Amino acid sequence: MNATKRILITGASGMLGSTLYKQWQSKYQIYCTGTSKALPNMKNYMQFNLRASNFKELFDWAQPDVIVHCAALTNGNFCQENPEEAFLINGLSSYKLAQSASKNCRIIYISTDAVFSADLHMAKENDIPNPDNIYGKSKELGEFLLIQNSQNYTIVRTTIVGFNEKEGKAGFVEWIIHSAKNKIPIQLFDDVLFNPISCSLLGNELSTIIDSGGFKNEIVHLSGSEVVSKFEFGTRLLSELNIQNETVAKGSILQFNQRAKRSTDQSLDCSYFQTATKRNLPNLEECIRSLSKEYYE
Ligand SMILES: NC(=O)c1ccc[n+]([C@@H]2O[C@H](COP(=O)([O-])OP(=O)(O)OC[C@H]3O[C@@H](n4cnc5c(N)ncnc54)[C@H](OP(=O)(O)O)[C@@H]3O)[C@@H](O)[C@H]2O)c1
Repeated sequence: MNATKRILITGASGMLGSTLYKQWQSKYQIYCTGTSKALPNMKNYMQFNLRASNFKELFDWAQPDVIVHCAALTNGNFCQENPEEAFLINGLSSYKLAQSASKNCRIIYISTDAVFSADLHMAKENDIPNPDNIYGKSKELGEFLLIQNSQNYTIVRTTIVGFNEKEGKAGFVEWIIHSAKNKIPIQLFDDVLFNPISCSLLGNELSTIIDSGGFKNEIVHLSGSEVVSKFEFGTRLLSELNIQNETVAKGSILQFNQRAKRSTDQSLDCSYFQTATKRNLPNLEECIRSLSKEYYE
């Protein structure tokens, strides 16, 4: 039905972008971009650095109806040490996309729970952002510049978990699985809360926004429906995958020295999305089942 809709995915070599590509390639006309080489089997890919001052080449090529802006510097410590780079890529890129896009082109900016401070439990869309670190501040800037410069945007704040396609890249889920399989002792925080959604389940929900055109010029929270600790998430994941978890221990963020301050409460209230769309967002079991399916695939 939407095969003619042209979708530009920025950050297509990343965890979320590559999942969306796989999931959507038969549904939409997908155009992908990132700074590294195209992933194996990824068609319609243009290497493009969002540092560029002129995005004409990218827009002439993709001519998007929708941009799903996933690209970001997501390493909190790197952002903390390189604030200018973080503000340029995570913040200013949304201004440049808004300036280059046609009036009818919807820009969906993938944002994060990190725009809120740890003081908030179940942050709502109208709560005031107050990021604890540079990464969160740079994403808040991206939101702000989009709101100021686009008349056709949706800001989706989420907390994603998933797998990386890019060789040599490993995130939270891969780290837990690799450590447990190789009997490497790790600690998972029992005092950090989040309501995760797998990248592919987020893809389903983003697709309903694209198809319906809903949430125009709005911020919407879109994540899992169940709040859990990182420890609970990790042990439930390993149990689903039948991987022994004896080397996984409970840890506390208070005993962990990090360069970038991290929030102890990443929970997002997603009731607005559920009420508006009459869709139930996935709970922890559904999130873990979706990760398990991807793992075995
Ligand atoms: N992962 C999480 O826990 C989490 C939680 C909440 C929200 N989010 C948000 O979700 C989105 C996707 O996250 P993710 O985990 O999929 O990120 P990721 O795996 O780290 O991927 C980041 C992507 O951004 C691209 N990128 C980085 N710098 C770029 C530049 N200068 N020019 C062009 N592309 C650039 C990377 O391309 P190359 O590798 O090719 O350079 C890569 O494709 C991000 O916006 C993030 O803020 C993530």
